[in-house]
Amino acid sequence: MTAYATLNPLAANINNLYLDYIGIIILLATIGVLIGTIGHYLIIGPNAKRLGKLKPEILRLNVLERFTHFVRMTSFIILAITGIAFAIFNVKNIGLTYDSAYKIHIVFAILFALSSLVSIVIWLKDSIFKTYDWEWFKVMGGYLTRKEIHPPSGRFNAGQKAFYWYSTLLSVLVIGSGYLLAYPEKFNLESLVWATVIHGISAITLMAGVIAHAYLGSFANPGTIGTIIHGKVAKEWAKNHHPQWYQEEIEQSR
Ligand code: HEM
Repeated sequence: MTAYATLNPLAANINNLYLDYIGIIILLATIGVLIGTIGHYLIIGPNAKRLGKLKPEILRLNVLERFTHFVRMTSFIILAITGIAFAIFNVKNIGLTYDSAYKIHIVFAILFALSSLVSIVIWLKDSIFKTYDWEWFKVMGGYLTRKEIHPPSGRFNAGQKAFYWYSTLLSVLVIGSGYLLAYPEKFNLESLVWATVIHGISAITLMAGVIAHAYLGSFANPGTIGTIIHGKVAKEWAKNHHPQWYQEEIEQSR
């Protein structure tokens, strides 16, 4: 009897389902979100375009926030490219051997884990939901209309808080399952099958969310992308997009 045949039938079925559909799910999820963001840009358009033309003068993200975000963002992109190469096409197609691709994946996984941990801790306080966040959800942040709507928002709006929790949960799942896969000799076959499935599904779900997040932090909201580069935003940007943050933290500290 092979080791695979001794697997619990539920784990074996889920593994087969996963192996049969993984490529197509990756493709559909990623293409779906990409088409969604392009469609949104063409049909509804960017939010408050005029705010992107103003001079950035208020510090929004400090050096630690920018540095950890940069490491998390770049390591995530490298992990996504090598991970997709492992799962659906040969790593040779991206000019690497299996060994070098594996080493790169492990090194950037460690950087992703460390930067995720720091990001999760430093942004926890800003990501706790408040009663006024409900107003943001009721109008979906104004993203479904061409009218300029700016619902109440603290340092992070309700959508950003939701993305914080979404990326936290999925980062923990992808890192935890990746740990099992990096040390297969320490775990039994059934745990490794579950780890493979959880690793793939959480990685794909995180990729789809990150595409939407990158769109919202750049093309959809002119004047925002600078926060992860130089850290600053315009005063009008802060007043319009994050009125509670502006009143409670910026105005009072001036
Ligand atoms: C891939 C390119 C990415 C771009 C262009 C991007 C862009 C941004 C921007 C502009 C902000 C600041 C928003 C503001 O000041 O209001 C931000 C914040 C944040 N980013 Fe990213 N990011 C990217 C990747 C990632 C990845 C891979 C993760 C995690 C896995 C991540 C997690 C976060 C979180 C949790 C925040 C704070 C909450 C939020 O703004 O949603 N980002 N990002």
